[in-house]
Amino acid sequence: MKSKVEQTIKEAGAFIRAEAGKVSVQQIEHKSLNNLVSYVDKTAEEMLVKGLSEALPDSVFLTEEATVEQGEGEWRWIIDPLDGTTNFLHGIPLFSVSVALEHQGEIVMGWVYDIMHDGLYFAEKGKGAFRNGKPISVSAQDNIEYALSVTGFPYGKPEVVEAYMNILLYLTHETRGVRRLGSAAIDLAYVAEGKFEAFYEYKLNAWDVAAGSLIVQEAGGIITDFSGGDNYLFGRQIIATNGKITKDLMEVIKTHFLDKIL
Ligand code: IPD
Ligand code: CA
Ligand code: CA
Repeated sequence: MKSKVEQTIKEAGAFIRAEAGKVSVQQIEHKSLNNLVSYVDKTAEEMLVKGLSEALPDSVFLTEEATVEQGEGEWRWIIDPLDGTTNFLHGIPLFSVSVALEHQGEIVMGWVYDIMHDGLYFAEKGKGAFRNGKPISVSAQDNIEYALSVTGFPYGKPEVVEAYMNILLYLTHETRGVRRLGSAAIDLAYVAEGKFEAFYEYKLNAWDVAAGSLIVQEAGGIITDFSGGDNYLFGRQIIATNGKITKDLMEVIKTHFLDKIL
């Protein structure tokens, strides 16, 4: 099953890579002002659905582009066929395929394919995390002052977005800094690999974080929602850290963001 899944993900990734630079302005649809999609996302999703259905017959799907019936079932694939669509459409070489496998409501396997770096991140519950077959682990840094974080910006109510930016201000002044890469799945994979100490984001969907979260956990990190709970998959709030700065980052998010929007 695993090798069929990985072959499918790499084929979808190869398709996306081959289409880079070819999408015309007319082929870009706006789901909303900042939420873009093209035939590339949809075709990649169809390729994934076909291959993954063959790998695990009777499985059901939760997918961003809803090219297949969305279902509930014992085995469910949670898929973002192209995470980082804006980067992809602007020729910025950082976008990924994110595939998670859920069994009876629990994520048991996850893959994030960093397409342009040919980096396939994988984790299986209880069995560790890997990049192209080699074990990976989170950073050992335990001082938030020396932490490099990564985030993404939410869209929506201006006052909420403005408050969210307070976190960025604090981390910029008081820590090593913050990056915004444009693919949440890659952000998580890079936390798992120790490149970043932390990732936090507001208003993501399950398909953005399902695979990457398991990879972080299996690499030794910790995932929570903004209040330290475990509602990060569907709760639209996520903090992922190396496990050593969760408390400090939660405090920053509470003081500079949550307390301001309540
Ligand atoms: C987006 C990326 C981005 C995050 C956005 C997501 P998409 O996914 O993960 O990093 O900040 O909010 O929607 O739309 O490129 O699949
Ligand atoms: Ca996404
Ligand atoms: Ca997407």
